[in-house]
Amino acid sequence: MAANAQIQTVKAEFLDPSLYDDTGLAALPRLSRGTVLTALSRAFDLAEGRRPGHSQRVAYIGTFLATELGMELPQVEEVFYGCLLHDVGMAASAPPAQPPAGRGSRTGKDPASVVPAADSGHWAAVIETLKAHCEHGSRIGRKLGLGETVARAIASHHDCWDGSGLSDSPAGEKTPMVARVVALADRVESLIDAEASPLAVRRRGPQLIREMAGSELDPALAEKMATIAERDTFWLGLYDNDLAATLMGLGHGPLMSREDLFDFLGVFADVVDGRNGRESGRSRRVADMARRVALTCDMTERRADLVKVAALLQDIGTLGVPAQFLSKPDILTIDEMSVVQLHPVYARDIVSEIPGLGAAAWWVGCHHERIDGKGYPGMLEGDEVPTEAQIIGMCEAFDALTSDRPYRRAMSREDATEVMRGLAGTRFDPYLLARFESVAGALPA
Ligand SMILES: [Fe+2]
Ligand SMILES: [Fe+2]
Ligand SMILES: [Fe+2]
Repeated sequence: MAANAQIQTVKAEFLDPSLYDDTGLAALPRLSRGTVLTALSRAFDLAEGRRPGHSQRVAYIGTFLATELGMELPQVEEVFYGCLLHDVGMAASAPPAQPPAGRGSRTGKDPASVVPAADSGHWAAVIETLKAHCEHGSRIGRKLGLGETVARAIASHHDCWDGSGLSDSPAGEKTPMVARVVALADRVESLIDAEASPLAVRRRGPQLIREMAGSELDPALAEKMATIAERDTFWLGLYDNDLAATLMGLGHGPLMSREDLFDFLGVFADVVDGRNGRESGRSRRVADMARRVALTCDMTERRADLVKVAALLQDIGTLGVPAQFLSKPDILTIDEMSVVQLHPVYARDIVSEIPGLGAAAWWVGCHHERIDGKGYPGMLEGDEVPTEAQIIGMCEAFDALTSDRPYRRAMSREDATEVMRGLAGTRFDPYLLARFESVAGALPA
């Protein structure tokens, strides 16, 4: 009894749905690309194994520098997008091989500009990984409709400022200004992050930036950045606990329509599917189905739209889980399973940063809960598991059963429905399962 009481207390402390409630519960919020990308950039940090907020700090540094350089607003916006997305390609490829300790640039995190020496095989693998994430990232930037300049900035963010480097730029052609600012912001953030403390880097930062001028950094831009780094206002903004809100407040990108938001999020859902060894479009299909089931449960159109948004983002947290765990044809070890079980938590934290999506974040965090209390991460029970999370979980499970896996062939719809029925009262609420079946039964052949 005492142990149960203790579990309940712990549950209430970190799994309180009221923390995620928001006034826009019933309405799909009008969101800008900048707002959505600011939040989702944390998933790219996870994919790269960087300290959370790397991409947001790069965006802060890049837009600060671009504004100080007097760049026009459209170019500042391109810098902003390029900075947030510079490492999005990591979400589409395996994590990079780490360079040997003590080798690499000053930051120890950017081996692209270092000439391989003795262990050239290892360095060749590092450079191949870096090249791949630049190429993947620029393709994703194009799919998001952010324009060629942003795509080029992503493609060349590991290039040197004079155009030499990994991307396919013609030799001797100077990297465009937007791309140079993005690359500089990435290297300066890495340099700052490698220092022991904010006070130490505040003191040494300007000098360190000047030392990188001429080799890694465009000398003129480096000098401008060094003068910015001499100001307290720059550092206060960089270390602001609410940097995400500051970036969202910059107002970059027009507000997206409902269809634009679905398409925008669908690009990221495709990236997650691809990384996890699943066919592209699978998550979009699950999300469409979840929306239809929500409507049969008498939810409003807008609430059903929110269910669709949550379904599109449900597995964004898997970017923090090694891809081989997710597609392992064998049973996971306990350690591997405990890592996989973190993905709803990562996703919940990322989605909760988007204004108006607090409720959706809660549903995302609960999409692997079961009404019998045997789910994860919170082992919620009965009514504690939100209806919306169950709907997402049902559609996901049905789609998984009817899709090929490395270890088994796809089931027929009839067989999959039978399996789902067997989960009534344990994993899923029987009433919701009946509503789900009415939709699944009406799917086109
Ligand atoms: Fe990178
Ligand atoms: Fe980076
Ligand atoms: Fe999941």
